[in-house]
Amino acid sequence: MASGSTAPKRLDGRVAIVTGGVGGIGSCIAKLFCEHGAKVILADTRDDESQSICKDLGPDNACFVHCDVASESEIENAVNTAMFMHGRLDIMVNNAGIVGAKVSDIVDCDAADFINVFRVNALGAFLGTKHAARVMKPVQRGSIINTASAAGIIGGCPHAYTCSKHAIVGLTKNTALDLGRYGIRVNCVSPHAVPTRMSKTYLGLGEEDKFDVYSDLKGVEVRPEDVADAFLYLASDESRYVNGHNLLVDGGFTVSNSGLSLYSQ
Ligand SMILES: NC(=O)c1ccc[n+]([C@@H]2O[C@H](COP(=O)([O-])OP(=O)(O)OC[C@H]3O[C@@H](n4cnc5c(N)ncnc54)[C@H](O)[C@@H]3O)[C@@H](O)[C@H]2O)c1
Repeated sequence: MASGSTAPKRLDGRVAIVTGGVGGIGSCIAKLFCEHGAKVILADTRDDESQSICKDLGPDNACFVHCDVASESEIENAVNTAMFMHGRLDIMVNNAGIVGAKVSDIVDCDAADFINVFRVNALGAFLGTKHAARVMKPVQRGSIINTASAAGIIGGCPHAYTCSKHAIVGLTKNTALDLGRYGIRVNCVSPHAVPTRMSKTYLGLGEEDKFDVYSDLKGVEVRPEDVADAFLYLASDESRYVNGHNLLVDGGFTVSNSGLSLYSQ
C-alpha cells in the first residue's frame, strides 16, 4: 500500500521494535508501520536525531529507546520497554547495520573491524531475535524480520559485511525452524543498493548526487520505501504462512549472470 492510501490498515493494534530505526531504511519502516496502525519503538544509538523522527511519526505512535544492538542488556531493555509500555511485542525488526572499512584486500583487513561489523550486524540480529523470542514464545505468535542484503547471497562487498550478511540469512533459516515450533515466523529482507546515508557514504556520493546503480529493472529508481513495503508484507498477516524466507528487493540484480547474460542493459 502506498503512503497516504485509504486502504485498510494492516498492522492495527500491533507493537513493533525497529532497530536502526533512526536510519534511512529503518525510519521508512517505522513510518509505514505507524501509517498501518502499529505502535513503534525505535531502537538506535543515534539519540540526537531520534526526537525529530518521533515527532514526525507522532508521540502516540512512536518512541525512542537508546539501544546498541551489540549489547545484550540494551536489547533486553528495548524489548522490556515494549512490554512495559504496551504489554506485547508482535514484530521485531533487526535492521541496524554498519558496513565497516571499505578494504578489498584481505591482507589489509583489520580483525578489529571484522569483529565490530559482526558485533553489530550478526550478533545484533541474534540478540534481537533471542529477546523478541523470550516474550513472543509465551503467547505463541510474532514476526521477526532481519535486514540482510544482496551481499548475503553474493560476494563483492567488504569481507566483513558480506560474511555478516550471509550469517543473517543463516540465522533467519535456523531461527525460523526453532521458533516456528511456537508459531513465531522469522524472515529476512535483502535489499540491493538503496539511497541512504550508509550507501551514499560507501559509494562516495553527496546528498544531491544521482544514485545510479546497476539494475535489471528499467524505469524504476529504488527508494527506501520499496524496502519498507517488503517489511510490511512480512510483518502483516498476509504472510502468515511465510517462514524462513529471504525476500530480495533488488530489481533482479542477483539473478543475473553478468558474464554470460543475453539481457545486459
Ligand atoms: N542502503 C543500502 O544500500 C543497503 C543495502 C542492503 C542492506 N542494507 C542494510 O539495511 C540496514 C539499514 O541500513 P541503511 O541503509 O538504512 O543505513 P543507515 O546508516 O541510514 O541506517 C543504519 C542505522 O543503524 C543504526 N546503528 C548502527 N549501529 C548500531 C548499533 N550498534 N545499535 C543500534 N543501531 C545502530 C545507525 O545509527 C543508523 O540509524 C543495514 O542493516 C544495512 O546493512 C542497506
